Amino acid sequence: MITVGILTASDRGAAGQREDRSGDVIKELVEKTGWTVRRREILPDEMELIRDRLVYFTDELKLNIILTTGGTGFSPRDMTPEATLAVVERLTPGITETMRAESLRFTKKAMLSRAQAGIRRQSLIINLPGSPSGARECLEAILPALAHGIEILTGAAGDCGRE
Ligand code: MTE
Repeated sequence: MITVGILTASDRGAAGQREDRSGDVIKELVEKTGWTVRRREILPDEMELIRDRLVYFTDELKLNIILTTGGTGFSPRDMTPEATLAVVERLTPGITETMRAESLRFTKKAMLSRAQAGIRRQSLIINLPGSPSGARECLEAILPALAHGIEILTGAAGDCGRE
């Protein structure tokens, strides 16, 4: 069973001024895949808060996958990629390359997401954009490969032979 945490970075969301529709979309897709959402939280766009929560989700809760949404753009408050880079030990560029490549089929603005993805201990942290459609498009692009990645990461699968 793959366990997932969803972390929404949004000043307005954290203040109760905006519904977390992207978190809803992510939760729905994750559950449709058969995985379990163990935690779902909304934080303001504060680098230290996001960083510390990512550490808690990985080191304490030991979640397999942490999906963030929001804070990946060019606004001065957009700091989710920096918080992610502060905690990951190894980058997983194929995931972000795939998200951006697939997303460009929908909108040229996809190139404006500075999303990062990487591994901390046995957890995979992935930044998704903040819009519900962006979160959906990016997550759908990478979902088919993630279970295998987690199997390798946790030692449940030894090699990448195709069955
Ligand atoms: N990716 C996809 N697939 N679909 C989108 O609509 N929106 C883009 C981009 N990535 C988008 C997308 C836009 S307009 C921005 S500004 C950046 O994500 C950053 O969004 P964020 O700051 O909400 O994370």
